[in-house]
Amino acid sequence: MFSNLFDQAMEETSSSSVPSANGGNHSIFVISVGGSALFSDSTPNVARIREIAVSISNLASEGYKFALVVGGGPIARSYISAAREVNANNFALDELGIAITRANAFLFLCALDKAHPFVLTSFQEATPLVEQGKIPVFGGLVPGFTTDAVGALLAEKLNATFVNLSNTDGIYSSNPATNSRARLYRELSFEKLFDLASKAEHKPGQNFPVDLVSAMILKRSQVGAIFLNANNMDNFKSAIRGASFVGTAVQESEEIQEESEEESSDAPGDAQTQTEESDESEIVRPKKKNPDDYFPF
Ligand code: UTP
Repeated sequence: MFSNLFDQAMEETSSSSVPSANGGNHSIFVISVGGSALFSDSTPNVARIREIAVSISNLASEGYKFALVVGGGPIARSYISAAREVNANNFALDELGIAITRANAFLFLCALDKAHPFVLTSFQEATPLVEQGKIPVFGGLVPGFTTDAVGALLAEKLNATFVNLSNTDGIYSSNPATNSRARLYRELSFEKLFDLASKAEHKPGQNFPVDLVSAMILKRSQVGAIFLNANNMDNFKSAIRGASFVGTAVQESEEIQEESEEESSDAPGDAQTQTEESDESEIVRPKKKNPDDYFPF
């Protein structure tokens, strides 16, 4: 069943009229907003929701185009753990998670000018809305997936840039919540992102900002990606406008100078300092782009 749904999602994605070529359309952004960034404990953080929505609306007025995918956050985890206790199976847990992400998405779109007024449930509906300057908003779509994976597929379909807004500054060399020497990566190749995601998958409780399927989708089509903290909208606007920002940029580049694995002794989050300090490098070159190569199942 999973593979059928996966195939269906892939079919919808690959039948896009927008080519999914390298480089992306730099005026279209798919924003994957982590549910954790929108909630304080299990209560929606209205000020944060409004701030993100206003920033996106202002950028849309400047001509940037957006599609959004909203995550589940702590409220989804709380529902899922309650359902697990009453013996729901994994498929049902995922369906419940999807329902919560869609509720969060509906809440978010209410705050957003130019949003299409309903949460979308099909990739196909996104393209005409984006072309009309409307903002399609999604929650989850397919059991077994994450909202980041939905966002990565949507970015692939729209030939857009993928933007992950979470409650961390970007992608770190290890979990910054537990390791004060964790170092923020300013730039990563797709290969390196995939490598980090696959290592994180094997560590229960690892708080890595992107799952393996999402990393695989970004990598197979070289979908440019940006990972940012949702608590700084000026920084977010800089990233969208192509100015410098604090966060992690993932892009196709044979020139990316991957930073060394050695972790900085500086405090996490001091990204500027950490970047300036990192001279050691390795060059990671993307491998051939055959989707079949990267399917983890
Ligand atoms: P999220 O993608 O929000 O998971 O989906 P998350 O890792 O908790 O992300 P944050 O906290 O929002 O950043 C919540 C749950 O919904 C189900 C999964 O069970 C997931 O754990 N889900 C979501 C799906 O099954 N399919 C989807 O397409 C999306």
